[in-house]
Amino acid sequence: MDDIDIRPIGPEDAQALAAFYNGLAVASKRTFHPLGDVTTLEACDAVIAENAPGVNKKYDAVAWANRQIVGWSFLWGLQSETPSFGLGVADVWQGQRLGSRLMDHILDEAARRGILRISLTVVQDNDRAASMYERRGFVRQESFVGEDGLSYYYMTAEFPNRNEESRS
Ligand SMILES: CC(C)(COP(=O)(O)OP(=O)(O)OC[C@H]1O[C@@H](n2cnc3c(N)ncnc32)[C@H](O)[C@@H]1OP(=O)(O)O)[C@@H](O)C(=O)NCCC(=O)NCCS
Repeated sequence: MDDIDIRPIGPEDAQALAAFYNGLAVASKRTFHPLGDVTTLEACDAVIAENAPGVNKKYDAVAWANRQIVGWSFLWGLQSETPSFGLGVADVWQGQRLGSRLMDHILDEAARRGILRISLTVVQDNDRAASMYERRGFVRQESFVGEDGLSYYYMTAEFPNRNEESRS
């Protein structure tokens, strides 16, 4: 794990992000598909563009190993009251704590920005993800059936004690 580098997505990362996303197994795509079944360079460039400081709609972080992206996590909707969290890890890297590290990186960034509330959705049978979220303060708010026909939980976490001055 020491050879993993987690950092904010950069302007040159679209190709690596597309390769990571399109390389996810069907089982992983079942529970993580923010860019649909298959993504494109253009779609990844659009994600990156929304991370630009002047735009500031998204914060995306990627984990690199052997010059490949092996994990991706994000907060989208930064200008809304409740930004939404997402997380995916390359299949061969799952179960080695990379997901936890990425999530903690994003939650640290949210704290730095003074974000008071975060939402996410999780497929109800995704026990590993759901319990990881609950351990970090996320609470089930409602159940719903997604467009993919799967049952999801909508979860939120509140961070009420953050100083307004730390917001950026
Ligand atoms: C879900 C996912 C992001 C987790 O990342 P990961 O690197 O595989 O998981 P980790 O090794 O970091 O373990 C995550 C947590 O689950 C726990 N865990 C590990 N194996 C587990 C298991 N079989 N059952 C329950 N919990 C388990 C770990 O202790 C850890 O919790 P902690 O950090 O609170 O102690 C990853 O498996 C993945 O990308 N899956 C496919 C896509 C997906 O489902 N994304 C989430 C969409 S909501």
